[in-house]
Amino acid sequence: MIEKKLAPSMLSADFGYLERDLRAVAEAGADYLHVDVMDGNFVPNISFGPPVIRVVRKIIPELTMDVHLMVEEPGRYIQDYAACGADILTVHAEATKHIHSTLQQIAAAGIRAGVAINPGTPVSDILPVLSMADQVLVMSVNPGYGGQSLIPETLEKVTELVQIRKRMGLSFAIEIDGGVKLSNLDKVLKAGTDVIVAGSAIFGGDIPKEMRAFREIMEAGSMV
Ligand code: DX5
Ligand code: ZN
Repeated sequence: MIEKKLAPSMLSADFGYLERDLRAVAEAGADYLHVDVMDGNFVPNISFGPPVIRVVRKIIPELTMDVHLMVEEPGRYIQDYAACGADILTVHAEATKHIHSTLQQIAAAGIRAGVAINPGTPVSDILPVLSMADQVLVMSVNPGYGGQSLIPETLEKVTELVQIRKRMGLSFAIEIDGGVKLSNLDKVLKAGTDVIVAGSAIFGGDIPKEMRAFREIMEAGSMV
């Protein structure tokens, strides 16, 4: 069984106190830091890029950096993000005509490769590349902004991926991203999710307290 991971999403941190917030999630036992890169083209919003990520890497060298690229033609940037310290680099299947070669490029850069699908994209679109993925990210909101509500139908794709993984004898982790809160965490875990991304639910409250509450539910879930 793949160990459950908690990945706070930096997008909802207070950028005026970024170092304080990053240290708080690291100290509270985050497994990954989820880092959302947005280009104002693949998604309407613009977030940050390599200069900021390099600083983040320095502040919390101990955390696995889970970089989620919401950019058009991500193949152009693989080297840049590998160089600034990404441990996992996830690209969207919808953002390139060449998802296979983009995943090959990530593997060649020596880091873990992830493939993401938007709420409107079926799992069948990524079947041919599943064997190349260390992680599959199921978007549970339309990408671009934190603080949205989880689209329940997306959880069916998680369950579908669990079955496909077993049938194909693969070992990719399944990550969910968007709208995860304490109130729906149990459902998200029961669908078969391995990596939980949570932005506003963690950075929007008292960080240590929210992290503890997430962990409690995750640990209870893994004992059943
Ligand atoms: C949305 C991003 C998410 C976002 C999640 O496009 O990919 O990672 O930060 O934020 P919450 O947990 O607030 O929905
Ligand atoms: Zn994300």
